[in-house]
Amino acid sequence: MKKIIKGASIVTESEVFKADVLIAGETIEEIGTDIECEDAEIIDAEGKLLLPGAVDVHTHMDLDVGIARACDDFYTGTVAAACGGTTTIVDHMAFAAEDVSLMHQVDVYHGLADGNAVIDYGFHGVLQLMNDAKLKEMVDISRREGITSWKAYMTYGGNMINDEWLFKIMKVASEEGLVIPAHCENDALVEVTKAELGAAGKVQAKYHPQARPALAEAEAVSRLLYIAKEAGEAPAYVVHLSSEAGLKEVMKSREAGQQHFGVETCTQYLTLTDAAYEDDQEGLKAIMSPPLRKQTDIDALWKALSDNCIIDTVATDHCPFTFKEQKQAGKDDFRKCPNGAPGVEERLPVMYSEGVAKNRISLPQLVKYCCTEPAKVFGIYPKKGAIMPGADADIVIMDPDAKHVLTIDDMHGANDYTCYEGFNLTGRIEKVFSRGELIVEDNRFLGSKGSGRYLKRGTTSLV
Ligand code: URP
Ligand code: ZN
Repeated sequence: MKKIIKGASIVTESEVFKADVLIAGETIEEIGTDIECEDAEIIDAEGKLLLPGAVDVHTHMDLDVGIARACDDFYTGTVAAACGGTTTIVDHMAFAAEDVSLMHQVDVYHGLADGNAVIDYGFHGVLQLMNDAKLKEMVDISRREGITSWKAYMTYGGNMINDEWLFKIMKVASEEGLVIPAHCENDALVEVTKAELGAAGKVQAKYHPQARPALAEAEAVSRLLYIAKEAGEAPAYVVHLSSEAGLKEVMKSREAGQQHFGVETCTQYLTLTDAAYEDDQEGLKAIMSPPLRKQTDIDALWKALSDNCIIDTVATDHCPFTFKEQKQAGKDDFRKCPNGAPGVEERLPVMYSEGVAKNRISLPQLVKYCCTEPAKVFGIYPKKGAIMPGADADIVIMDPDAKHVLTIDDMHGANDYTCYEGFNLTGRIEKVFSRGELIVEDNRFLGSKGSGRYLKRGTTSLV
């Protein structure tokens, strides 16, 4: 059955124009004015916006962090994503509990996602306890399984990747065109400060941001980019950039002529401040790494987005733990709280409302950061992230003027809170199509468990 979406304004990363979209099966067949097609179902979208299904390249569904397991599995988490207009995720794997092959976690993640996800998905591999055999395995898996990005944590205990291995990994990444997403925080600054705070009895949530200062991020960003450059301009990718200090380090590298790397920020670093930690109980909800920062950081991040420089993508780092139970592990000591917060359902509506409706970014920039660039950087463009003939018919119909208040009661994940409770939003998602199938209408999920497909990813746009 064919479908024609009529009368909407199509948004791409570079323009907004009025046209009809003809969907044939799973893909977009034609874009044009007054498309006619006998027997096609007509979807009236007069006055609405048509966005590409959004692509969230930083989620942690079903993440096992040892002390807790993220409360969204690949079913509930992707239902939430879909209801928030996201039709593709690239999920970051958990560390394996033991020193096993890199393929071990790939198999574990297929076990978690296949048959559960309701939207299409890929995986970033995770690097830990490195040795020469694993370096070779990284290349073999990326060629065979289409896992063309491998996460390196520059902090996080025994699983942290030290500079020696970071350099070796980057050299291989440079030769193979593999993206290395890196969690950038200086491990010593974080661990020593955490220990000092603990010894002084400063263990309430409000001390969390002190334990993970912006300069810890800035130092690691700078080091990552120098190492990537020395390794032959390897395609490094800074995940969840949170601070102005970090931004300045990125700027230095760009000004020095380094181009082949990517930078991601997340919705929470653009919209929430460290005031979230003032209340010891409520503050647990926002315990995440890196922590929320100051208004000056937020302003600097929006400016970078608006100037089309430095930042490539906006993701979520969706890593939900329930407030009533899981987050309470940190009630007497923030260091025992599982780190992470939800956000996959909120990203597109909040970015539209806080970004476009408040004139901080344009509509094409919204699509660039939330849809098209993530797909390009992680090797799934133009199948994903674009409304164009031949692309998958992943489409969001949005009413640009509708207003509503964001509340957990209207949301679809497994969590019991949202960090954006009470946000007054402009713009509302009306319909979401995944490969041509209507999976969300008026905030109701209509899709089916397991209909998401694994994405073998290709080459990054960063090379
Ligand atoms: O606090 C966070 N970000 N938790 C998720 C795991 C990670 O560090 O990415
Ligand atoms: Zn993460």
